[in-house]
Amino acid sequence: MHCFFTSSHFIFSMERTTLFLFSLFALLFLFLSPISSEEDGGADDALIRQVVGDGDGDGDAHLLGAEHHFAAFKRRFGKVYSTLEEHDYRFAVFKANMHRARRHQRMDPSAVHGVTRFSDMTESEFRKNVLGLRGVRLPSDANKAPILPTADLPSDFDWRDHGAVTPVKNQGSCGSCWSFSATGALEGAHYLATGELVSLSEQQLVDCDHECDPDQPGSCDKGCNGGLMNSAFEYILKSGGIMREEDYPYKGSDRGTCKFNKTKIAASVANFSVVSLDEDQIAANLVKNGPLAVAINAVFMQTYIGGVSCPYICSKRLDHGVLLVGYGSGGYSLIRMKEKPYWIIKNSWGENWGENGYYKICRGRNICGVDSLVSTVAAVHTTAH
Ligand SMILES: *[C@@H]1O[C@H](CO)[C@@H](O)[C@H](O)[C@H]1NC(C)=O
Ligand SMILES: *[C@@H]1O[C@H](CO)[C@@H](O)[C@H](O)[C@H]1NC(C)=O
Repeated sequence: MHCFFTSSHFIFSMERTTLFLFSLFALLFLFLSPISSEEDGGADDALIRQVVGDGDGDGDAHLLGAEHHFAAFKRRFGKVYSTLEEHDYRFAVFKANMHRARRHQRMDPSAVHGVTRFSDMTESEFRKNVLGLRGVRLPSDANKAPILPTADLPSDFDWRDHGAVTPVKNQGSCGSCWSFSATGALEGAHYLATGELVSLSEQQLVDCDHECDPDQPGSCDKGCNGGLMNSAFEYILKSGGIMREEDYPYKGSDRGTCKFNKTKIAASVANFSVVSLDEDQIAANLVKNGPLAVAINAVFMQTYIGGVSCPYICSKRLDHGVLLVGYGSGGYSLIRMKEKPYWIIKNSWGENWGENGYYKICRGRNICGVDSLVSTVAAVHTTAH
C-alpha cells in the first residue's frame, strides 16, 4: 500500500466527501501508530513508513528499513558524500529528521511533512545555508503603506492567474532568499507598470548590494550570508535599477565582483513601503500592488511536502524571505474538519520542493510571523521594448 501521509497529489485531487472519510482514516492512523515505541531503534521502520514516500508505489516499504529510505533519498536528490564518516553522519542526521518530520506532522496535521532535499541537514545548517534573512527588526522610519479599502476584496486571488509571477527559481546553497523575495516583488510590480513580465537578477543583488540598515549600524546585505528585502529595494532605488536574469545570471555564490551595467537596466524601483500587520491590509495591498515581499519563520518548511501548513505552535523569529502571491479561502484541515483560509507563497528552493515550489500557510493568526514584515514595491513605468 502506498503510504497515504505522503501522497500529496492524492490528497489534493480528492473530492470533499472523500476527503472527509479520508480525514477520519488519517486520524485513526495518527492515533493508532506506535508512538510509545518511538525511542527504541525498532520503531524506525514504522516511523519511516509514515513519513517517507519513495514513489515506487509498491508494498516493499513496510519491509525495508531506514537504510533503504536513505538510499532512495540519495538517489532522488543526487547526494554524494566524500567519506564514509560523512556518509554515516548524514545518515544519522537523516534519521533524526525523520523523527522531526513526524513531530511536525503531529503539530501541523493539515499539511504533509516528510523527506525533502534538506533531510540530511541539521536545523542550524539549514538556517545558515538555505535561509538567509539577516537579523530582522521592524524598520522604524520605513514608509508606511497607505490604508486601502478592503470591502470588495475577492475571496480567492492568485497573481499566477494574472501573469505577474515568473517560474520558481532556486537559490541553491546560498543564504540569498532575501534577493529572490525582492526580485519577485519587483517582477510583479514591473509587470503591473509595463505589462511585461521580466525575470530579474538576484546575482546583481548578491554581488552589488551592500546596503546597510539605517536602524542597525553594521547590519548590511551580505550576499550568501543574508540580507533584507527592504535594503535590496533601497539599493535598486539608489543604483538606478536592476538587470535581467539572462543578462546577469544566478551563480549561487558571492565570491564574484559586481558586474552591474547601467545601460542594461530592465526594471527600476519607484518607491516601496511596509504594510501594517493586518491581514485585510496585506490582502488589499497584494491585490492592488502585486506580489509582496514577506518574511517568515521557516522551521516547518524544512520538512514540508504539501497541504496548508497551520502548526499549533510556530516561532515568529523571522529567518526566511519569500513572496506572497495570493490567498485562498478553502484549505482543508484534517483535524478540525473546517475550511481554513491560507496564503499562497512562492519559495526559492526549486520546483521540486513543496507544491511545485510553493507553500501554503494558514491565515488568521500571524502564524510563523508571516504577517510581521510585509513590503510592497512600485516599479518605474518604462516603455516595453
Ligand atoms: C555595458 O553594456 C553595453 C551595451 O551592451 C556595452 O556596450 C558596454 O561595453 C558594457 N559596459 C561594461 C563596462 O561592460
Ligand atoms: C508610491 O508612492 C505613491 C505616491 O506617493 C503612493 O500612492 C503609493 O502607494 C506608493 N507605493 C508603494 C508601493 O509604496
